[in-house]
Amino acid sequence: MGSLCIIAAIPARFYAPGKRCSTMQVLHHTQSVREALKAHRVGGRRIGFVPTMGNLHRAHIELVKIAQSRCDVVVVSIFVNPLQFGLHEDWDKYPRTYAADTAKLRDANCDYLFYPDEQEIYPNGMAEQTRVVVPAMTDTLCGASRPGHFEGVTTVVSKLFNIVQPDEAVFGIKDFQQLALIRRMVEDLCIPIEIVAGEIFREADGLALSSRNSFITAEERPRAAQLNQSLNWIGEQIGAGQRDFAALEAAARQQIEAAGFRPDYVSVCNSRTLQPAADDDSDITVLGAMYTSAARLIDNISLSL
Ligand code: PAJ
Repeated sequence: MGSLCIIAAIPARFYAPGKRCSTMQVLHHTQSVREALKAHRVGGRRIGFVPTMGNLHRAHIELVKIAQSRCDVVVVSIFVNPLQFGLHEDWDKYPRTYAADTAKLRDANCDYLFYPDEQEIYPNGMAEQTRVVVPAMTDTLCGASRPGHFEGVTTVVSKLFNIVQPDEAVFGIKDFQQLALIRRMVEDLCIPIEIVAGEIFREADGLALSSRNSFITAEERPRAAQLNQSLNWIGEQIGAGQRDFAALEAAARQQIEAAGFRPDYVSVCNSRTLQPAADDDSDITVLGAMYTSAARLIDNISLSL
C-alpha cells in the first residue's frame, strides 16, 4: 500500500492530514478492514467513515472531503444493502458502477474502500440477521411508505460501524430522517462515534443529487425540481407567518401533481422529533417525497424561526 505503510509507522503528531496516500486500498473482508486500521488506531490517528451504496456522485465525494478535513484516515464503504429495500423496490435495478466509483474515490485521495459482498455482511442470511430498530421516527414519513426500510438501514449501519469502528461518520442531510435515526441509534446504544452532517448538494435548478436521478426521464427532468420548489414555497409561507401547516402541505401536494408527479408525502415537522410541527416550534424541517415514472425522490429544507 505504498506510502501508507510509512505513514502508519509514524506517530500521529508527525502525520500531516493534508498529505494523503495516492493508492487507495480496496478491502472486501471485515478482518482485512480491522487489520488495515489497527496501525492507524494504535498510532492515534482519527478515522473517518462515509457509508454509501455506490453510484457515487458529487455529493458523496463532498462527504469524503468533509471526512478528510476532520480526520487523518478516511474509509468509504460501498454496499447496496438488500435489507433496506422492500420486495417491490429497486434493489436489482439500483445502479452499480464499481469501476467509475473506485476511480472517483482514487481521484479524491480516499484511503480505503470497503467493498463487501452480501455473504460478508449477512453470513447467516438476512432472515436470521439480528436487527437494530429505532422505534421513534421509523414508521413515519419515508418509513410509512417503505416498511422495514429504516430497520434495514440502522441494522447495516451498526454492522458497518462495528466493522470499521471509526471515530466519526459523515452522513448527508439530504436523507434527513436517516440521519436523525442514526443520531438516535448512536445515542441510545452509547456508540462512541461522532455523527457529522453534510449539507445537501443540488443541481443548478435545485434538484437534490441522488443515485436515483438516473431513473428520471429526459421528458420529466425539466420539472423534477418541483419537489424542491414546493418545499421552498412552504418555507417562504411559514417565514411570512402562515401557520396552517396542513393547508400548506395540501397545496404543495397539488403543485407536485400539477407538475405531473405523484406526491408521496409533504410534511412540516419539528426538526428534532420529526413529529408534525406545532405552531410555536422554532426549528422546523419540511420534508417531502414524490414519485416520477421510475424513481422515488426525497428532499427537505430546514427553517429556524
Ligand atoms: P447512499 O444513498 O449511497 O448515500 C450515502 C450518503 O450520501 C448518505 O449519507 C446520503 O445522505 C448522502 N447523500 C446522497 N445524496 C446527497 C446529496 N444530494 N447531498 C448530500 N448528501 C447526499 O444513504 C445510503 O446510501 C444508505 O442508506 C446507507 C447509509 C449507506 C446505508 O446503506
